[in-house]
Amino acid sequence: MDQENNSGVTEFVLHSLSGSRELQIFYFAFFTLFYLSIVLGNLLIVLTVFYEPSLHTPMYFLLSNLSFIDVCLSTFATPKMIVDFLVEHKTISFEGCMAQIFFLHVFAGGEMMLLVAMAYDRYVAICRPLHYATIMNVRKCVSLVVGSWLIGVLHSVSQLVFTVNLPFCGPNRVDSFFCDLPLVIKLACTDTFTLEVLMLSDSGLMAMCSFLLLLVSYAVVLLTVWRRSSAGMAKARATLAAHIAVVTLFFGPCIFIYAWPFSSLPVDKFLSIFYTVFTPLLNPLIYTLRNKEVISAMQKLRHRQVSS
Ligand SMILES: *[C@@H]1O[C@H](CO)[C@@H](O)[C@H](O)[C@H]1NC(C)=O
Repeated sequence: MDQENNSGVTEFVLHSLSGSRELQIFYFAFFTLFYLSIVLGNLLIVLTVFYEPSLHTPMYFLLSNLSFIDVCLSTFATPKMIVDFLVEHKTISFEGCMAQIFFLHVFAGGEMMLLVAMAYDRYVAICRPLHYATIMNVRKCVSLVVGSWLIGVLHSVSQLVFTVNLPFCGPNRVDSFFCDLPLVIKLACTDTFTLEVLMLSDSGLMAMCSFLLLLVSYAVVLLTVWRRSSAGMAKARATLAAHIAVVTLFFGPCIFIYAWPFSSLPVDKFLSIFYTVFTPLLNPLIYTLRNKEVISAMQKLRHRQVSS
């Protein structure tokens, strides 16, 4: 693609969290620690599910896939942000910027769909337990995973084809630590109203619908558990409260940024940290590491490691 012909901008300047030199070094250490925990925690889950035959069930396959997407989601921009804390001029090439937009929407879209798939899995397990084995077979599980990635890619491409062809000629300062779509669109030197409406109905609607779907599925599950016994209720409520908390932390900022794109606010850059850093860290903590089966599988693996 020949960008330079129709646009003067060949690179963008990123504006990370500002502050003194000491503060930058603190951010560097802080986010490095965060990033390493995300990668190690999630890889540990993927490996545990992979090596432990007792965890070869749809629920754990989906959890392991979520961990994998979390690693991707935290890797497309965060390492660059971390290195940038030590760099004076934080720039990114035009292609790099488009790549970041592409991957953000593939991974975030895939993650949203996977969360919905996991909610569906739990819904079937709790509300239709007798049919669970026939409904959630391996084929269904694979198609849910493949479908999530496919929707993520289609969703991302559908917005990117319009973005790469925008003319950029003037300011090239992106007020965030990575290229987020609304911020980049704002820099185009043309009327972007149509594109913003497209983004609103694509990203905004997708986030909003999956969020509502998740809340409804949680409500149905909670209602079912409650009708059956009040003893199971306390445990289910605690688990669900944790899920609702992490899902809200992920979807809240997405919806805020993408469903009100016409007014990009300075706070957007802090909010985007929620879906690139905090969610990938919280997911394994909430979904998996509170799970006794996973913990005991990890211990079993460690013993096997030690004895071999
Ligand atoms: C994702 O899910 C599929 C389908 O169940 C499974 O075969 C695969 O091993 C999972 N991948 C990861 C990384 O967990």
